[in-house]
Amino acid sequence: MSTAKKEYKRITTKTLVDMKKKGEKISMLTAYDFTMAKIVDSAGIDVILVGDSASNVMAGHETTLPITLDQMIYHAASVVRAIERSLVVVDLPFGSYQSDPKEALRSAIRIMKESGGHAVKMEGGSEIKESIKRILNAGIPVMGHLGLTPQSIYKFGTYTVRAKEEEEADKLIEDAILLEKTGCFAIVLEKVPAKLAKEVAEKISIPVIGIGAGNGVDGQVLVTHDMIGMTHEFNPRFLRRYLDLYTEMKNAFSQYSADVKSGDFPNDSEQY
Ligand code: KIV
Repeated sequence: MSTAKKEYKRITTKTLVDMKKKGEKISMLTAYDFTMAKIVDSAGIDVILVGDSASNVMAGHETTLPITLDQMIYHAASVVRAIERSLVVVDLPFGSYQSDPKEALRSAIRIMKESGGHAVKMEGGSEIKESIKRILNAGIPVMGHLGLTPQSIYKFGTYTVRAKEEEEADKLIEDAILLEKTGCFAIVLEKVPAKLAKEVAEKISIPVIGIGAGNGVDGQVLVTHDMIGMTHEFNPRFLRRYLDLYTEMKNAFSQYSADVKSGDFPNDSEQY
């Protein structure tokens, strides 16, 4: 159990900023359903991200692009019903905020009203500044997301490390400063060199939560299904697997099938 768990009854956006000030690291994991969210929350994870990675993990799509606002709201509402302590951040899905600030605000309001989530996350920097402002003006907290932004995968063409070149690194630093100035309470930094991520975290006062961004940032996020080994084809360098649930579950399912077919299950004590 983290020290944060003992100290903070309920995590808010302000708690995260205070944690950065005190040098306390922030833990964040994804969840898309009630049962998983309950376990993640009870383990003392500070932030639960209802990520649009649900598009890959839950629905089996190749990218995060197909997931809809309605589907994100369904996942987020299931998560919110489970939590007692964690802050719940919900991804605004592709197509729900890029076209204009009014639409972005409408999408964010739907998430807050219909799911009960506590904040939204949006991918991008200066290009979406006006939308972020609109949403913040309505009192909805916004988490930024820079570096590898999977909603733009067809622009990048690959999921490799971003901002290795000076020009892209400079734009990323500018965007991080802009997101802080605009009023975001935190930023996710995905798949960028550790040195650059550390520099960003030192330059801004809001927390920088990394995924594949090294240890010089203010917190870490992973996709839960990856870190517990339920998925097993995805093996990036930054991923630490804490369990091999794919194998454990597969063995359990095979054993169950064998027990049913042999007539071993159910036994006398497993029936009425
Ligand atoms: O959708 C997601 O799970 C994310 C994390 C990878 C940060 O955005």
